[in-house]
Order: sequence, then structure tokens, then C-alpha cells
Amino acid sequence: MNLSDLYKGCRSYRRFLQDPVPRELLCQMLENARISSSAHNAQSIRYVVVDSKEMVSAMQPLVTFASSLPRELGTPKEGEQPTAFVVVSKTADAGSFCDMDIGLAVDAMVMTAWESGIGSCLLGAINIPEIGRLLSVPEEETIRLVVAFGKPGHKSTLVGPRENGGLKYYLDEAKNYYVPKRSFEDIVRFV
Ligand SMILES: Cc1cc2nc3c(=O)[nH]c(=O)nc-3n(C[C@H](O)[C@H](O)[C@H](O)COP(=O)(O)O)c2cc1C
Repeated sequence: MNLSDLYKGCRSYRRFLQDPVPRELLCQMLENARISSSAHNAQSIRYVVVDSKEMVSAMQPLVTFASSLPRELGTPKEGEQPTAFVVVSKTADAGSFCDMDIGLAVDAMVMTAWESGIGSCLLGAINIPEIGRLLSVPEEETIRLVVAFGKPGHKSTLVGPRENGGLKYYLDEAKNYYVPKRSFEDIVRFV
């Protein structure tokens, strides 16, 4: 698959098959994040990889999936939940550009995963204090994002905005996702 096809398919997945994400792939994802660009080359991001069965289960109630959908549709049930998480935090001395650095590093992780058929979902709606306690994240670090990983258990298709201009993702009867995106012409200007 070429890079543009990879970007097209690398959507947010919220139900997963239960095959584990191989440790080797997790290491490659984090290696690619490690060498990603950062403002002033500060490298202020820290990661906790959660892949043991026990800790993955403990993480599930601390993240919120698909808040645009009714809970019974958007939240993965037992047997559909992610099989690994990466918790992303920044150090106390991180500069004001660190959140951009996090975006780049997370993109490296999710694209590396997707190249091997592992889907992901970025999670900003998270219980930060409880995750910090569970994973013993040092108090001086700030948890910014969790990324869920696993083999996708549904399809996700890009579509145009809805007739009323709405951008909320929606599901069909088989609970496959449809994700409206604004058109190229609406967001890009050449001068
Ligand atoms: C910073 C950030 C935080 C997000 N937080 C959540 C979240 O807490 N729960 C969730 O289910 N999806 C979350 N998402 C996924 C978005 O809902 C998703 O990217 C958007 O609906 C578009 O779908 P797509 O990723 O398939 O293009 C987040 C995405 C980003 C970039």
C-alpha cells in the first residue's frame, strides 16, 4: 500500500478483534515516535506501553469512546476492546510546542501500526488521575493522550459532510463507521 492509501485507511477504530499486538510491532511504533521531530529537539514526551492482559483490562474503564454516539453503540463491549494502549505524557519542563510534538509522535505510532494492519483510536477523554495512579506516572509529568490499539473489528469509510453540513460520524446497521470530511476546496486555498 502506498502512503496515501495508508493515510486513507488509518481511521479511528473503536471495536477490535482480540489478537494481541505483537511486542515487536509495539517497539517499532515507539521507535518511530522516538525519532520524530520536536520543537528545539526538546524530546519532552514520555510513553507507557500497556500490553499485559491485567493492565489492559484495568485501563478500559478509564477511557471514553465515541462520545458523539449513544454509549451502547460507541463503547466497545467485552471481547471488542483494544488489546494495547500507549499513554502519552509530557515532562514538567516541556515547552509550549510540545502538544504539536505529541501530534507528530502519535502519527508516527498509529501509521506504523496501521502498516501492519493494527488499527488505533486517539483518546483525549480519559481519567487522567486514575491512569496516572494505575501506571505510576511520575507526578511531575502531565498525561495528554491515550492511544488504543488492536486489529480492527469494523470498517470505517470516509464520506462528505451530511446534507445539513453535519460532521458527526455515524454507523450503519452493521455498526460500521462513516466519517464525514470537509471537501478539499473548502479547506485549502492556493494563492
Ligand atoms: C486529539 C484527539 C482526541 C480524540 N479523543 C477521542 C476520544 O476520547 N474518544 C474517541 O472515541 N475518539 C477520539 N478521537 C477520535 C476522533 O473522534 C476522530 O479522529 C474523528 O471522529 C475523525 O475520525 P477519523 O479519525 O476516523 O478520521 C480523538 C481524536 C483526536 C485527534
